[in-house]
Amino acid sequence: MDGVRDLGMRKVGSHSSLDTEVFDIIRRLDKPRTLNMDRHRSLDEQSLIEHSVVGNVKAVDSCESIYSTVEMGTRSGFQTPAASTPRFSEPHPMVVDAWEALRRSLVYFRGQPVGTVAAVNYQSEEVLNYDQVFVRDFVPSAMAFLMNGESYVVKNFLLKTLQLQSWEKKIDRFKLGEGAMPASFKVLHDPNRKTDTVVADFGESAIGRVAPVDSGFWWIILLRAYTKSTGDISLAESPDCQKGMRLILSLCLSEGFDTFPTLLCADGCSMIDRRMGIYGYPIEIQALFFMALRCAFELVKHDTEGKEFIERIVKRVHALSYHIRTYFWLDFQQLNCIYRYKTEEYSNTAVNKFNVIPDSIPDWLFDFMPTRGGYFIGNVSPARMDFRWFALGNFFAILSSLSTPEQSTAVMDLIEERWEDLVGEMPLKIAYPAIESHEWRIVTGCDPKNTRWSYHNGGSWPVLLWMLTAACIKTGRPQVARKAIELAERRLLKDGWPEYYDGKLGQFVGKQARKFQTWSLAGYLVSKMMLEDPSHVGMISLEEDKAMKPALKRSASWSC
Ligand code: GLC
Repeated sequence: MDGVRDLGMRKVGSHSSLDTEVFDIIRRLDKPRTLNMDRHRSLDEQSLIEHSVVGNVKAVDSCESIYSTVEMGTRSGFQTPAASTPRFSEPHPMVVDAWEALRRSLVYFRGQPVGTVAAVNYQSEEVLNYDQVFVRDFVPSAMAFLMNGESYVVKNFLLKTLQLQSWEKKIDRFKLGEGAMPASFKVLHDPNRKTDTVVADFGESAIGRVAPVDSGFWWIILLRAYTKSTGDISLAESPDCQKGMRLILSLCLSEGFDTFPTLLCADGCSMIDRRMGIYGYPIEIQALFFMALRCAFELVKHDTEGKEFIERIVKRVHALSYHIRTYFWLDFQQLNCIYRYKTEEYSNTAVNKFNVIPDSIPDWLFDFMPTRGGYFIGNVSPARMDFRWFALGNFFAILSSLSTPEQSTAVMDLIEERWEDLVGEMPLKIAYPAIESHEWRIVTGCDPKNTRWSYHNGGSWPVLLWMLTAACIKTGRPQVARKAIELAERRLLKDGWPEYYDGKLGQFVGKQARKFQTWSLAGYLVSKMMLEDPSHVGMISLEEDKAMKPALKRSASWSC
């Protein structure tokens, strides 16, 4: 069997008390969009078959620039190609402003839009790399363009970054894996020579010199979103895209000394790209890894070269979902189990498998954990559980169906129960709680940008709004997303679309926050469009595969 598998949509999880509004959303979610690729088999079917058979990236990509009518700095939303009117009945003034800013952020290569800059910061004294197209930052922009029928921008981006993947990547004398995708790239225009040149950063220029593990995952997730939204299977099925996916998969599915199916990562390898103690097996990466594997399963062709990858994906997805659902999950009951853990247990009968010492449970957790609700903790490794809440990892666990339906419900319950802590005055805390004092010194290496309740250390990031909205729609709670959007609408435009907010309640514009941060405004647009037409969520959401149901249903039947 060839080609792209099962991109069709199925019904979202079951709900006990659905109001009419939610029924309506579910109905619209069920309604196929432009594309339904049900001709392909699901992971479920596939797995049944499995079981029965048993420096220096100063490299350039330059060319004669067509340079057409678009010049840096003079572009406006009205000059951009295909600027079809956003599909809103009565656009909120913020929506209009956000679309204009989004179009201003477009970056062109040979006259073609290939991405959006991280921030269009007019008062910027310090540009750093915010004038670059970041792979992760482009995701909400891409979603907005796809929802608005401007898919060519996304296609251009996917192809441009694919080209960059094929560069030889070196840091000092060390060669990076072939499949590595850049964190960001920049187009340099030379008006005299009329050339456009691309410079990319695979981690060798990034602060801390860390490779962005998330970039390749986002790329696959976006390729699936593009395919799902446009019905254009030809891009995903092209030899170049197939090769690009296989290279990414080779990197993350390679065998090593692992005893867990989770992916071992360095600190700062994702959206949280500075030292924040997320090294090890961060939930942020595991959830994206899982989602990317499931997307790749749908997209990788079952030909001679792809077949081997399909088999490896199936095995990994099963092991990963079991591991995360079992060991990363925390609710009141499980906290009580850990609190009573015995240590130094040897052999496979051990209850406390990772030898976590109960004294390492932080005090804040006993107050934070509600009797109703739960979440996937930040990290699990030997004698170390990072109990912090990380928003992106939990939302992508829901969107990828890494979480069971019961766990998804519990995550949403937690958000509602701990609204003040996790949402406060500006959605949404990237991580909770902040680390302070001695711990801050040790964990961040005294990072002045990541002081308590700022930036990655308990700061509030408006970009997370779109992920919350998608998760709310998937779990049948659009009213929660609406409440969060209302909060964002009180401040975002007035404050100039900041990158992040500071403070326990997220009430202050971030200390060093850039203004006109593209993913803040694109995330807002995506949230609005998804609420308007919830079937858009299908672009970024995968339903549970029956074969992944764990033998053990943690939330309901854990005993220790
Ligand atoms: C900061 C963020 C990172 C983002 C980049 C560009 O470095 O931590 O996640 O991609 O800015 O906006």
